[in-house]
Amino acid sequence: MARFETQVGIVGAGPAGLMLSHLLHLKGIHSIVLEAKSRAYCEERVRAGVLEHTSVQMLREAGVGERLEREGLRHEGIELGLHGVRHRIPFVELTGKWVTVYGQQEVVKDLIAQRLADGGDVRFECGEVSLEGITTERPRILVNREGHIDEICCEYIAGCDGFHGICRGVFPEGALSIFERSYPFAWLGILAEAAPSREELVYMHHPRGFALYSMRSPRITRLYLQCAPDEDIAQWSDDRIWSELQTRLSCADGWGPTEGRVLQKGVTGMRSFVAEPLQFGRLFLAGDAAHIVPPTGAKGMNLAFADVHHLAEALGAFYGDGNGDKLESYSETCLRRIWKAQRFSWWMTSLLHRFENEPPFDRKRQLAELEYVMTSRAAATSLAENYVGLPLEA
Ligand code: FAD
Ligand code: PHB
Repeated sequence: MARFETQVGIVGAGPAGLMLSHLLHLKGIHSIVLEAKSRAYCEERVRAGVLEHTSVQMLREAGVGERLEREGLRHEGIELGLHGVRHRIPFVELTGKWVTVYGQQEVVKDLIAQRLADGGDVRFECGEVSLEGITTERPRILVNREGHIDEICCEYIAGCDGFHGICRGVFPEGALSIFERSYPFAWLGILAEAAPSREELVYMHHPRGFALYSMRSPRITRLYLQCAPDEDIAQWSDDRIWSELQTRLSCADGWGPTEGRVLQKGVTGMRSFVAEPLQFGRLFLAGDAAHIVPPTGAKGMNLAFADVHHLAEALGAFYGDGNGDKLESYSETCLRRIWKAQRFSWWMTSLLHRFENEPPFDRKRQLAELEYVMTSRAAATSLAENYVGLPLEA
């Protein structure tokens, strides 16, 4: 057995784990990151694409915003579509803020490069991870690589291992309360080699189901279709996908998505999930390990960044002057933002999707709500304020 020592052991090298490790490094706190997958896998995993104003600021202040600033696409609004007509929600005019479109895998690449350049200890393909002694002062992470065991002795452990990770499961029976909602649909997403034909994202309500027009770069578009939760991707040829996208997204003014080679496709489930509290003993959860939002509000990666911002601040205060108050209140602080993002993500999802067999009253109410958001400055401002990101608590 090989033995290693660190102040903070971090499980998972997604946006949460990598950013936490970097923020701790800036505060002079040592960490070891343990990631089950390979570096290439982490860097190529296509997921979220919209960074809130607050996340961009955090990345920039942490010195990892250089490429983001160069290559990220500044979006000053989004468009909502109904009955084939688009209506713009102008973020800058309503809030003074904007969002940046920059792929999650690009953020991950930037953070990995920075950690390695700073001599950070990030271990990919680390094998099977388990935790021990989380209620003691020396919690440990055991890493089993084909029978060869590494023991990482920590002072704190951060569970940044996503929704399917092992850290949440280490909380003892009864210590967690779970709040959850599933939705009767999923998203079929594609990445296409096609120049965007609109400057901003289009969130389209359609009788056949929701569709989203998004992008990654001046050459690559990202598009989604509402589908069944158990949709068989094998039934969707590229032609069928484009035909359905054209049907749902084409507008009365003649606009429709430009087509191109499909580079990647997949089905993403939709759920709302919160596990409370985010701390037990010396184990702290952050990001998808503690909560999941449906992607309609573009909040997943942003929430992960907000969590680790608070966790780094709390650990910084503890190691700086011995003050553990922020560690004590970490869970409560994060949950206030998490629940606001849950509300917004649920609301955007309810507003835009087709609900099978829904009572006619609810369908009429949904359309009225969408028309209200499209025509009322007050309602549009509320959407914009949440979409660009609520301010981080001091
Ligand atoms: P993750 O990114 O999941 O990172 C967790 C890391 O831990 C992973 O690298 C994983 O390999 C590793 N890990 C897991 N278990 C272990 C273990 N036992 N030991 C060691 N390492 C482990 N959000 C949006 O806003 N828009 C989207 O379009 C969107 N699409 C998504 C599509 C998919 C398929 C998924 C799963 C999520 C999507 N999200 C989207 C959500 C967003 O990507 C997440 O909120 C974000 O990745 C959260 O970051 P994280 O670091 O908390 O978790
Ligand atoms: C994306 O570009 O992947 C994306 C954008 C906005 C969303 C969800 C996903 O709400």
